[in-house]
Amino acid sequence: MRFVLLGPPGAGKGTQAQALVTRFGIPQISSGDLLRAVAREDSDLGREFAGYMDRGQLVPDEFVLKLISERFRKKDARSGFILDGFPRNVSQAEALGARLDRAGLKLDKVVAVMLPDEEILERITGRRTCRNCDAMYHVVFEPPKKPGVCDKCGGELYQRDDDGEDTVRERIKVYDAMTRPLLDYYKRLGLLAEVDGKGRPDEVEKRILTVLENIAVPSQDSAGGGSAGS
Ligand code: AP5
Repeated sequence: MRFVLLGPPGAGKGTQAQALVTRFGIPQISSGDLLRAVAREDSDLGREFAGYMDRGQLVPDEFVLKLISERFRKKDARSGFILDGFPRNVSQAEALGARLDRAGLKLDKVVAVMLPDEEILERITGRRTCRNCDAMYHVVFEPPKKPGVCDKCGGELYQRDDDGEDTVRERIKVYDAMTRPLLDYYKRLGLLAEVDGKGRPDEVEKRILTVLENIAVPSQDSAGGGSAGS
């Protein structure tokens, strides 16, 4: 199965992707996580990426497409993937479509998790992430047992540099200008399903599973033929 989780910042894409990874046995490919890994490096490229991200701007397509291509080549992506945060504009969507076409593959669905702006700020400013295992928490909605400490691995919880209120407002503007047009793009392709992102994470997950339930999950063996990395 190959599908995209689309939606505004803080809508719950990452939370849902982490839950669905276990259910479907396919990896989450998060462009934000891939970019943050480079941004943490002590390199010119890392500093360049961090600059875009801290301003709430999109990192230029050429860099993002290169990182995504490299990730597609890994073995675990052969039987499918959950794309989280990619594509982010029409040209990235076209590049993804062309790559899948070349490999004889297709997207099964694009699930847009929708959330009003007023809830976005509340969710993002309360988010805490584990430095060690990337597990996600929310200081109010999903608090760790011990403040600042990951329940799963004991790692330190931190707040992302781009989660301050001003940057979040800029990210929402960028979403409206660059990413929202993808809703129409994928609607025209007959792939879009919009899901309400309000409510508890398990309630949102149920809605996503409902729109995915008619898609057959290929076995690991039968899915080995095509690779989006080719
Ligand atoms: P990215 O990391 O992709 O961030 P985003 O899309 O803005 O989304 P978030 O990760 O902030 O939110 P989410 O929807 O995953 O919500 P989450 O589950 O964490 O991108 C960051 C930056 O990288 C971009 O600004 C850009 O600079 C760059 N970038 C990334 N991809 C790019 C691309 N393709 N091209 C160019 N540049 C790119 O949930 C948020 C919080 O809410 C958490 O605390 C969570 O615990 C809580 N929560 C989740 N669900 C619920 C619920 N149902 N109820 C209550 N709380 C909930």
